[in-house]
Amino acid sequence: MATTTKEQAQATSTEERGLNKRDAFATGLGVLVATIGSAVGLGNIWKFPSLTGQNGGAAFIIVYVLCTVLVGLPVMISEHMIGRTARKDAVNSLREVAPKGQPWWLIGAAGGLSAFLIMAFYSSVAGWVFAYAFKGITGSILSTDPAVTSQNFGSLTTSSWEVLFWQWLVLVWVGVIIVMGVAKGIERTTKRLMPLLFVLLLIVCIRSLTLDGAGDGIEFLLKPDFSKLTGSVVLAAMGLAFFKLSVGMGTMITYGSYFKDEQNIPMTATKVMLADLSISLLAGLAIFPAVFAFGFNVDAGPSLLFITIPAVFASMPGGSVFVVLFFVLTAIAATGAMLSIVEVPVAYLTGQFNMQRRNATILTLVLLAIMGAPAALSFGELSDFTIAGKTVFDLYDYATSNVLLPIGGLFLCIFVGWVWGFGAVERALTNRGTLSNARTIRFFFMVVKYITPPLVLLVLLDGLNVI
Ligand code: PFF
Repeated sequence: MATTTKEQAQATSTEERGLNKRDAFATGLGVLVATIGSAVGLGNIWKFPSLTGQNGGAAFIIVYVLCTVLVGLPVMISEHMIGRTARKDAVNSLREVAPKGQPWWLIGAAGGLSAFLIMAFYSSVAGWVFAYAFKGITGSILSTDPAVTSQNFGSLTTSSWEVLFWQWLVLVWVGVIIVMGVAKGIERTTKRLMPLLFVLLLIVCIRSLTLDGAGDGIEFLLKPDFSKLTGSVVLAAMGLAFFKLSVGMGTMITYGSYFKDEQNIPMTATKVMLADLSISLLAGLAIFPAVFAFGFNVDAGPSLLFITIPAVFASMPGGSVFVVLFFVLTAIAATGAMLSIVEVPVAYLTGQFNMQRRNATILTLVLLAIMGAPAALSFGELSDFTIAGKTVFDLYDYATSNVLLPIGGLFLCIFVGWVWGFGAVERALTNRGTLSNARTIRFFFMVVKYITPPLVLLVLLDGLNVI
């Protein structure tokens, strides 16, 4: 009896110190939904439309889809495979699967840096989204005059206390869910929220597509004009493919480490990619027809969502309801993605230093608040502070999507194709021989070894004007 009590006491303290059996996703469906939750985010509703609008519509989308299939998907499969094989955080998974003494774990470490840089600007935009969802309820952001909506957006982004307040609120919201754990926090939340996001997006889409004059927007999305494609546009499309699928920085290694043994990785990754592309296209169909119908500019860039959308909704019957639905769905999308970004350092801190999950989360959030403040203030207080001609916000964004994520993905593919080798890949992707997907695996291996690395290198060097 005494022993039992002692054992119980030991078990509790082990659990408290985070040394117990690793938390993981509880169901196969949960794996899929949480991973889609990571991929789907502001990337679909804010970045994809603004980049598509700025870079010529359909032609950009075609290049982006190609990058997603030839680069994003192979990197995602690689990450899931490494994570599930090692069942550790990104840094330690790579350390475990790599030959002794070779520094492949640096990909994971660089990924940690990317996680902080992305989250710093991502939480700023998510802060604006949360603010707009709230202000939508009070009706204070709606106006049919874009000059007024532009002024509204300007007064939010230039108010230091407001942007910091909303950014911190977002960080706390994400932190609370992360502390609840992988299955009880991330999985449960995304399972509840993702279907809601999809339904809300469909409603907004139908509204937009049934406006008079919606046809021009559809044409913009479907009729390619290849004259706009330059090296830097192709790099932007590839950067978006990395950002969209949350790859190149260890997020998918971390999530892969929570996958079930019997999860079919190539199938799961393909479903995630297709779901993510569909949501982006739906977001395009929700936004562009309405933008054209009311004669607004498509190349507004990052402010498209915050200046154009409220004006568009104010111009339609029931707009005050639709605008709230739209920003609530965007807040939902942002939440699933942020959970996966924050999970990267939290998994590392708990795995490497046996930190309690709560403490690891608090430490991560404090660091994020420090790094995020200059990004949040980039449109007001710090708008004149630039490095290489970019504000802190733009620099974080550019450095991650267009440099760090592609480099991370490049080295990961080189590792999988040239170092880890076919045998290990086959073992991981057949679930130790239980799946008969030999042809898929051979195809994947060929792509990851010979196609993805030169493609990423070429686009990277050309887009950065090195060649
Ligand atoms: N995929 C997310 C989006 O498109 O909004 C952003 C993202 C999440 C990027 C997680 C990177 C990451 F690790």
